[in-house]
Amino acid sequence: MDRFVIEGGTPLEGTVSVSGAKNAALPAMAGALLTADGVVLRNVPRVRDIGTMRSLLDELGVDSSVTHEDFGNKVEIHARQLLSSEAPYELVKQMRASILVLGPLVARFGEAHVSMPGGCAIGARPVNLHLKGLERLGAAVSLDHGYIHAKAPRLQGGVFYFDTISVTGTENLMMAAVLADGETLLENAAREPEIQDLADLLIKMGASIEGSGTSRIRICGVPSLHGAEHSIIPDRIEAGTFLAAAGITRGHVVVERAEPRHMTAVIAKLVELGVRVESADGRIEAWGDGSLRAADAATQEYPGFPTDMQAQYMALATQAEGSSVITESIFENRYVHALELMRMGADIRVEGRRAVVRGKTPLSGAPVQASDLRASASLVLAGLAATGETTIDRAYHIDRGYERIEEKLAKAAARIRRVQV
Ligand code: EPZ
Repeated sequence: MDRFVIEGGTPLEGTVSVSGAKNAALPAMAGALLTADGVVLRNVPRVRDIGTMRSLLDELGVDSSVTHEDFGNKVEIHARQLLSSEAPYELVKQMRASILVLGPLVARFGEAHVSMPGGCAIGARPVNLHLKGLERLGAAVSLDHGYIHAKAPRLQGGVFYFDTISVTGTENLMMAAVLADGETLLENAAREPEIQDLADLLIKMGASIEGSGTSRIRICGVPSLHGAEHSIIPDRIEAGTFLAAAGITRGHVVVERAEPRHMTAVIAKLVELGVRVESADGRIEAWGDGSLRAADAATQEYPGFPTDMQAQYMALATQAEGSSVITESIFENRYVHALELMRMGADIRVEGRRAVVRGKTPLSGAPVQASDLRASASLVLAGLAATGETTIDRAYHIDRGYERIEEKLAKAAARIRRVQV
C-alpha cells in the first residue's frame, strides 16, 4: 500500500498540467456500449477508476485498449457483442460509477444486471432515481440478492422529472434514451460540464440530444449509433485543487490545459478567500500571499460551488483570518476530512451539514488517513502548508481521481514523495 510523505512549508512555484476529467471519461466509456462500432476517447486520465471501468467492460466481454499519448491516454472501446450483461459486486463495490453501464446495457442489449452500489464515506448515495427513470422509459426493474435487474425489449421515450438533481442519474437516463423508441424529456436534469461532454460524444455517435447543460434535456431516440472519436474535457476539480494549493502554500502556480469556463464558482470562491487568480484560454494562474480572509461557502449543483471542492476549500479556510461557515448541501456526510484537519491543528466545529472553520491556525504535520478521494486531496493541501512532516496512508484513494499527484506537485517545488509501506 502506498503512502505520501510531505515536508510542508515550501511555497509552490511552477506549472502543472491538468488531466482529462475522470467524471467525464467514466460515462463516456459506458457510452461506448451503445454502438457495435469502435469508440476512441482521448485525454483520458491515468487514474485508478479508469482501470476499474476497463475491468468492468472486460467482464462484459467488451474489448478495450489503451495507448499512452502526450496528454493522457487514448482508450479504444469496441462493444461488438457482450459475453455477459452483469456488472459484478466485486467491481461495483470498488467504484459506484459502475452504475453507468446500466442505461447503455438496457438500451442496446435489452437487459442489465448490476450490483447495487452501496453507500460510501460521503453518504448513502441511493440510485432510486436511476431505477425510477428506467421504469419510466419502460424497463422492468427488480432487485434481487443485492443486484438490480433491468429488462426492456425496447425502451420507450417518456418524460422524467428528477426529484433530486443527479449527475450520474442524468447521464444514465440520457444514455438509455438515445436508442429508445420516441422522444424523452429529462426535467430537472443535472447541468455539469461532464454531462455536456457526454452529450457531445453521443451526438458525434449519431444521437439526437438538445439542451445538455441545461435542466431540460430532450432526446429523440434513433435506431442505432455509430462509432466516434472524442477528447475528454479537462478535470475542473483537479484544476481547482491545484489553485487551492497555490493559495495555501503562499506560492504561485500556473495550471495548464484547464477550462476556466467550467470553474467560475470555484475561482470566485478562491478569490473571495484572498487567492489571486488570473485566467486566459486554457491556463489559469494563481498566487497566494498569505493574506487569506474568511469567506462562507455552500456547495450546490453546477454551476454552483461544487461539493467535490468542499474539502479542499476547508483546508484553505483554516489559513484564513476569521470564521468561514461551510455548508455541504449535496451529501449528508462529507466532513470526514475535518477530523483529520483538526488533528493537524485546525479549529473546526461540525454541526450537521455545516462546519465552522476558525482561522488562521498554524498546521503541524501529522500521520493522517486518506478516506474518500477529495477528503484525501484536502489532506495533501494541509500537509503542504503544515510545518514538519505529514504522512498520508492509503494513497490509492487519491490515485482514484488524481494522476500521479505527487509528481505534478513536486514539479512545482512541493516536497512530496510516494513510498511503499
Ligand atoms: C457524481 O456522483 C460524481 N461522480 C461525484 O464525484 C460528485 O460528488 C457528485 O456527482 C455531485 O456532483 C461521478 O460523476 C462519477 P448525484 P453521483 O447522483 O452522480 C442524491 C468524485 O469525487 N441521489 O449527483 O453519484 C444523492 O444521494 C465523486 O469524483 C438520490 O437521492 O451524485 C446526493 O445527495 C464523489 N437518488 C445527490 O442526489 C439517486 O438516484 C447528488 O448525487 C441519485 C442521487
